[in-house]
Amino acid sequence: MQVTISAQGPLQGTVQVPGDKSISHRAAILGALAEGETTIEGFLPGDDCLATVTCLRQLGVPIIVDGQTVQIQGVGLTGLREPEDVLNCGNSGTTARLLLGVLAAQPFSAVLTGDASLRQRPMGRVTEPLRSFGAHIVGRQQGQLLPLTCLPGTIRGGCYRSPVASAQVKSALLLAGLFSSGMTQVSEPYLSRDHTERLLACLGADISVQGTTVTLQGSARLRGRLLQVPGDLSAAAYFLVAASIVPGSELLLPNVGINPSRTGLLTVLQAMGGKLQLLNRREINGEPRADLLVRSAPLRGVEISGALIPKLIDELPVLAAAALFAGGKTIIRDAQELRVKETDRLAAVAEEFSKLGAVITPTADGLIIDGPQQLQGGTVDSRGDHRMAMSLAVAALRAAAPVTITGAEAVAISYPHFWETLQSLQRS
Ligand code: S3P
Repeated sequence: MQVTISAQGPLQGTVQVPGDKSISHRAAILGALAEGETTIEGFLPGDDCLATVTCLRQLGVPIIVDGQTVQIQGVGLTGLREPEDVLNCGNSGTTARLLLGVLAAQPFSAVLTGDASLRQRPMGRVTEPLRSFGAHIVGRQQGQLLPLTCLPGTIRGGCYRSPVASAQVKSALLLAGLFSSGMTQVSEPYLSRDHTERLLACLGADISVQGTTVTLQGSARLRGRLLQVPGDLSAAAYFLVAASIVPGSELLLPNVGINPSRTGLLTVLQAMGGKLQLLNRREINGEPRADLLVRSAPLRGVEISGALIPKLIDELPVLAAAALFAGGKTIIRDAQELRVKETDRLAAVAEEFSKLGAVITPTADGLIIDGPQQLQGGTVDSRGDHRMAMSLAVAALRAAAPVTITGAEAVAISYPHFWETLQSLQRS
């Protein structure tokens, strides 16, 4: 599918962004492992989270999905059953890595695979520490790549110091640790998103956090309950940047998650001179949220590095779009993780934006962008990456001529109604 975007004046109105992708995955998995019923409201019915639901069903968990509401009959920590077929995680790294943690601790075997992109993504960062905790995982390249088989295993727990700040690594180990009789401790170089920790606490697990170290006592019983997922800040990011760079825009985005481990985009947009307000702050299920009001503003370049990177890792492609229209230099460092996302996002950003006349210099671990730049029209490709498709669409709002985006269907991964929402704002 392809979509053509033309610059058409200010964006005004209210945007209800879909539910948080990371929290939706975790709510489904932990609801399945809890005892009793869990109802999830505000669930993201995107392809990634639906892949998690399908895998959980194959593991014997009754789940009904009705739009953004999901009912789960939790089976408890001992209730999963051997799947009859391969579990397909599609494009979703979160599904694969988190389920590896769960499956490593089961008394049965299960095979996990994914699409061509996911089969290239590094799994050793999860399988190696899981093995050190007692897991038996075999597969391509000594367990580095999907497809992978989890053989029956008993998890001992233990301590792991992760070399990468990755919520998927941390969460896989915590999920495995739930099934051990001992203690599991995970440290990371910088804090990555902590939704797993917050949700575990909300469902009754014995978990504590000190700095960037999290400690979980195994064998706790989780209790099912109502979970309300906030809007996804990573989805809001496209409209926050769009409204910032299109003169005369003003958008309200109600009920967006503002967990501090995710708000790097807000910090950076404000440092760039963006006009943002966080209204009506509140907290539900341990996750803070607010209504975000954004107005257009002249932006200036910034440097982004270090501990900020995990807090905005998925927003760097759209921040690159913002930097193109900002005065001065933007330098992004310490973002080598972008090379192992749905696509190599450093290369993809530099190459796809250059098709519109942009000059973006990729480095080993980041990007250098001198702004402001004038973009031309042209044809660009999402490379099957939802975040590339949406970032290119945002930049197209300031291009001198129409921009056609091929592979536009990729948005279904995390933002099924993205194109309709963008087009309705442009018409209003
Ligand atoms: C996610 C964690 C991040 C992020 C991904 C979702 C999660 O990946 O990029 O989109 O839900 O845990 P890493 O944990 O690999 O950094």
